[in-house]
Amino acid sequence: ILTLIFINILLQGLVTLVTGGASGLGRATVERFVKQGAKVIIGDLPTSKGNELATELGSSAIFAPLNVTSEADIQNALDLGIKEFGKLDVLVNAAGVAVAYKTYNSQKKAPHLLEDFERIIKINTIGTFNVIRLAVGHMVNNEANVDGQRGVIINTASVAAYDGQIGQAAYAASKGAVVSMTLPIARDLSRDGIRVVTIAPGLFDTPLLALLPEKVRIFLAKSIPFPQRLGKPEEFAQLTQAIVENPLLNGETIRLDGALRMQP
Ligand SMILES: NC(=O)c1ccc[n+]([C@@H]2O[C@H](COP(=O)([O-])OP(=O)(O)OC[C@H]3O[C@@H](n4cnc5c(N)ncnc54)[C@H](O)[C@@H]3O)[C@@H](O)[C@H]2O)c1
Ligand SMILES: *[C@@H]1O[C@H](CO)[C@@H](O)[C@H](O)[C@H]1NC(C)=O
Repeated sequence: ILTLIFINILLQGLVTLVTGGASGLGRATVERFVKQGAKVIIGDLPTSKGNELATELGSSAIFAPLNVTSEADIQNALDLGIKEFGKLDVLVNAAGVAVAYKTYNSQKKAPHLLEDFERIIKINTIGTFNVIRLAVGHMVNNEANVDGQRGVIINTASVAAYDGQIGQAAYAASKGAVVSMTLPIARDLSRDGIRVVTIAPGLFDTPLLALLPEKVRIFLAKSIPFPQRLGKPEEFAQLTQAIVENPLLNGETIRLDGALRMQP
């Protein structure tokens, strides 16, 4: 019995799709999961470094070029994963984009472009849901463990879902929706034995943030109560592993932010 429980909490052999897996938080998750013995499908844009990463990681990882908003792309990625690794146990949704535009720019006398708002919602919110709804169709085929569990889904929101800053109307709305759908999706999938948990990261040191000048990055880090530094992508990856391993986490969003509450 002890051995069985032990095996259950390891990532060994778990097949995982990580969207946004070629960069930042997704990439750290890919690397950690491969180290822990999982098989990983790196889902990312064709223009990303997904192929290079897969080559670097060897036979435990494959690259599936995709746009999270496309039904065909996701189906192809899932089929590729099944062909290569035989099943799908875990989905980590880490693909996402950020923009910063005010609702109305009074200097330029210009309203926020509707296309920009729509694009962010399309990728962050609809893209996340698109991958979830299609991945579930494969997870339900898994043999259930002692708890009846067949799969785990992890989404990436943001602390902007709760305290969005100036210029973050679209981004905050897109991530707020990810937080809001976590519970109903967990409820929807409870009969299938699939857990759904969302992480709301604070400020992490990824290529997304590297675009900012060093001065701004230092200023941002100082706004974090403790520890007063940007999060390391490995710390995000560590939480994804903990979520997979802990059978009671479900239907919840976890802030991972060093107590950061973003100011206007
Ligand atoms: N870095 C932070 O401080 C921070 C904070 C809060 C939330 N987040 C969220 O975490 C997630 C990962 O962010 P990151 O910092 O690692 O950024 P990143 O830019 O390093 O990685 C994001 C990845 O998503 C991919 N991607 C973008 N649009 C896509 C699409 N349409 N289809 C498929 N892939 C797509 C990109 O190619 C990239 O590889 C995002 O959802 C982001 O909003 C990041
Ligand atoms: C992904 O698809 C969305 C719309 O479906 C589109 O707006 C976006 O440009 C696409 N991204 C890339 C990089 O092709």
